[in-house]
Amino acid sequence: MIEHKFFLALAALFDRVVLALSTLGITLLIALNSFIGKVRMSHTNGITLRGRLRVNADARVPEHDFFEQGRTFGCRVRHGAASFNDDAKLVVRSASLKLSDTRGKSPLDLLMNTGRLPLFWNARTFMQFMRRSIAGKGKHYVPYLKKHPQAAIGGGDSVRRDPVSLHKLVYQTQTSFGFIGRDDVFRYCRYRLVPVPFDGVETGLPDEFDRKHAWLQNPLPDETRNRNYLKDATRQALEAGEVMRYKLQIQLRLPPPDSTIQPEWIAAIVAWDEQAFPYLDLADLEVTEAMSVRESNLTWFDISHHPKTLPVPKARSIDDAHSLNHLRMAGVWAVRARLLRYLLTGVPKAIPESRKAKDWVGVPPMANPP
Ligand code: HEM
Repeated sequence: MIEHKFFLALAALFDRVVLALSTLGITLLIALNSFIGKVRMSHTNGITLRGRLRVNADARVPEHDFFEQGRTFGCRVRHGAASFNDDAKLVVRSASLKLSDTRGKSPLDLLMNTGRLPLFWNARTFMQFMRRSIAGKGKHYVPYLKKHPQAAIGGGDSVRRDPVSLHKLVYQTQTSFGFIGRDDVFRYCRYRLVPVPFDGVETGLPDEFDRKHAWLQNPLPDETRNRNYLKDATRQALEAGEVMRYKLQIQLRLPPPDSTIQPEWIAAIVAWDEQAFPYLDLADLEVTEAMSVRESNLTWFDISHHPKTLPVPKARSIDDAHSLNHLRMAGVWAVRARLLRYLLTGVPKAIPESRKAKDWVGVPPMANPP
């Protein structure tokens, strides 16, 4: 019995060491990439907006010290896209929400992507995905997608082409976070941002072909709009006095009674049944202003920005569902590397409009879908 416990402890220690070493390796790599390339590691294309958020929680949301009814925050929202610098690409799009009108520090940052399911769901699959991104994206993703059919489903579920606007999309945190209400009960939670009004159908959903070939990300051959058309339209609409309204919503779920076993539904690749765990209204968000390209680039988001009562659960191994958030928190070093590079050599200018500009990246040439 003692021997058994000893081996279990040793295995747990080994798992943690592998997690720590993997985190170190990934963080070094992405920090170097952000410094040399002067770019966000992901979601390079984006526009930052300014607005106001007011807590207006559904009665079914347990009372919470942070989300006190009526509390208001100045805030920033960055609508981004992973990762090509071209609004017309077939890409995962994002809304990062900072509950303070500042470039960095804030009481809470929420980073959300389109789609219910991501392309990776723990540190192990993230490393495999990253290898394929480094190899050149496009057809290089195919072996990964074949090995992990769930990733192919996640890719098809997350990409969006030609949405009516950056506002008319649904953005979700996908990974699971913690929520400790005034009742002192720990619950898991996920957040999403939906446009107001919302009839349940978002725009830009991939058609059957795009869903099955999410790695073929180029604009359609007859595309004539410039590379910034969605960001430009957002800026113009706000300058003309439009107010973009959203609801921040939360899904809550109690952990199983036996807390030693981690349920498989914590993994980002498992969407929670919305009948059993409905998205409940949490806050109203109004966006009124688009920020300059400079301010946009200097604004950064970090899931480490959260109060104690909205914790990021700890990971124990590279296969643990929480290891994705573990990596993301270490990713702040990539942010620091990027900002240091800006300090040394200046903040990047706007993305060129033309696809003939030399920075434009097509996915690797493919005669046919591989
Ligand atoms: C499902 C999981 C994930 C989601 C939903 C997600 C979401 C996002 C979003 C929305 C952004 C854009 C932030 C902005 O607008 O500035 C972003 C950027 C970024 N993400 Fe992730 N991410 C995930 C996984 C990861 C992982 C595993 C890493 C590993 C380190 C990572 C590292 C980064 C980094 C370094 C940036 C750029 C930060 C900057 O330079 O400002 N993300 N992510």
